[in-house]
Amino acid sequence: MCGIVAYIGAKDAYPILLKGLHRLEYRGYDSAGIALIDNAEIHVHKKAGKVKNLERFVNGSESGSTIGIGHTRWATHGLPNDLNAHPHLSANGSLVMIHNGIIENYGSLKQDLINRGYSFESDTDTEVFITFIEDIQKEGNHPLEDAFRIALTKVIGAYAVVIMSTKEPRKLVAARKGSPLVLGLGEGEFFLASDATPIVEYTNEVIYLKDEEILIINDDHYEIKNLDDVAQSPYIETLDIELETLEKGGYKHFMLKEIFEQPNSIRDCMRGRLNVDTGELVLGGIREYANALANAERIVIVACGTSWHAGLVAEYLFEDLCRIPVEVEYASEFRYRNPVINEGDIVIAISQSGETADTLAAIELAKNKGAIVLGVVNTVGSSIARNSYEGAYLHAGPEIGVASTKAFTAQLTVLTMIALRLAAKKGTITDTKYHELLVELDSIPDKVALALKLNDKIETISDLFKEAQNFLYLGRGYNFPVALEGALKLKEISYVHAEGYPAAEMKHGPIALIDEKMPVVVIATRDSSYDKVVSNIQEVKARKGVIIAIVTEGDELIPTMADFTIEIPATHDYLMPLLSVIPLQLMSYHMAIMRGCNVDQPRNLAKSVTVE
Ligand code: AGP
Ligand code: GLU
Repeated sequence: MCGIVAYIGAKDAYPILLKGLHRLEYRGYDSAGIALIDNAEIHVHKKAGKVKNLERFVNGSESGSTIGIGHTRWATHGLPNDLNAHPHLSANGSLVMIHNGIIENYGSLKQDLINRGYSFESDTDTEVFITFIEDIQKEGNHPLEDAFRIALTKVIGAYAVVIMSTKEPRKLVAARKGSPLVLGLGEGEFFLASDATPIVEYTNEVIYLKDEEILIINDDHYEIKNLDDVAQSPYIETLDIELETLEKGGYKHFMLKEIFEQPNSIRDCMRGRLNVDTGELVLGGIREYANALANAERIVIVACGTSWHAGLVAEYLFEDLCRIPVEVEYASEFRYRNPVINEGDIVIAISQSGETADTLAAIELAKNKGAIVLGVVNTVGSSIARNSYEGAYLHAGPEIGVASTKAFTAQLTVLTMIALRLAAKKGTITDTKYHELLVELDSIPDKVALALKLNDKIETISDLFKEAQNFLYLGRGYNFPVALEGALKLKEISYVHAEGYPAAEMKHGPIALIDEKMPVVVIATRDSSYDKVVSNIQEVKARKGVIIAIVTEGDELIPTMADFTIEIPATHDYLMPLLSVIPLQLMSYHMAIMRGCNVDQPRNLAKSVTVE
């Protein structure tokens, strides 16, 4: 978690770092800070809260430095206050570090350093890390790179770090393990960042550092080495990100922009892959393992949060269409419980960021046990994408809002395409049904656009419930994971307690919560569970619950029972989550705004969870 950015070149570093921090703020916003070197002196400015607090604090006092580092924090060790904010100086002030990740053995390192006379200002593991490097440097009279390398062999945990030193004021050293770090190669200048967003407007040539690689930038040249001090030959990639996708483009919030982008992001996700006329469905990223996938005895899906919800929908799809047993696992549980994986099992990792630490660890475990790992990832070049054998990108464009929206629908689209491709290959679907589904999938972007027209109505309904303290979300079949997703969206950005449940399971417990104050959102579209869901609505009404029903256009029955109905276009059961989630995304957005919450940067959260 957290965003790090660094610059060395001929330009004024401060505005570049500041802009970079704004772009990275979605990754963490507990505090922000920068360090610049000017005349072999380090200037550190750091402040709790958002990047704009830092900006106010610095108040134009910094200009002229051409080398610097910046950090936006998601606290793991120590309160989110000024002292714990990064960058952190070493004890004698000669070194300064920004760090993303957790040093797990920081406690013993700290105690050892204290025993030898060091003291610490902050509660962070980071300050221990940089002081440890200073100590190694002093003890062995080592140059910075050597001390850094020795320290990296002794720390346990995850890191992406960048260091500057007063003794070598035109040098940046950096390394990564488990947390991302991208190097941007400009004309006589270099950029470092947690992701490519702060780099893209300066250069499109980048190198994604690998785990346990050390980068040394010495003024105008760089080299990459491994922990054994052996030079590595890096792979230079060309970025394909449009700058506009990183801006709000007239919308008040990234989340709203991303919700409204969905007709296009779903189209982009299918572009070049699905051809309704010829019936072709090509997934260029899954070729070598296409047979293994078709012959798999079992598929295990690992993911977290919203991506896990997409995995649940995929479970229904793969089982129904391809007749392959599927298990959907929370990556965080899977990685620690010695799961049974057989040679040839397929493990699909779903992740928007491609950097979620638990998902990454889950795929490493799966690979060690002989599984074939496929990634369904949005961020190109991310760790999960690189560590998968093959996979399919979402092509949904950067998702900046912390609450995932367009990535979810793109995940559903990719997973549906994989399931259809597989079913066709295995012969578990008839040609007629296959073609029907291709046509229907192709029409989804237009139907999502229609669902988005409900925005005003949803805003009005949201206003009526903005004071509610609890919500229940119910759905069955393909709409059950959507109920979970609707509840998660409301919790994370509106801070309203919400539970998602399979509608029929409600009577085994949550029904006790229902009274006249309890809004119950029921996804009751016309599908194979329709009649059953109608009965569940009756059960809620009998206990005076307030029903907000998401129904299929033209439904005449449910409006006679529900307190509010929201009509969405009809589609096949398999594809309904792509439409039924839209009103729930909009409702959580409006409720959050009405409750005065920060939609794009909800409290305590960060976009990409790169720590355990
Ligand atoms: C979604 O709204 C959340 N912010 C969160 O649950 C997210 O889906 C989860 O952290 C997984 O992230 P990933 O898709 O980037 O791996
Ligand atoms: N562990 C460090 C801290 O708590 C870094 C956290 C981060 O990745 O932002 O300050």
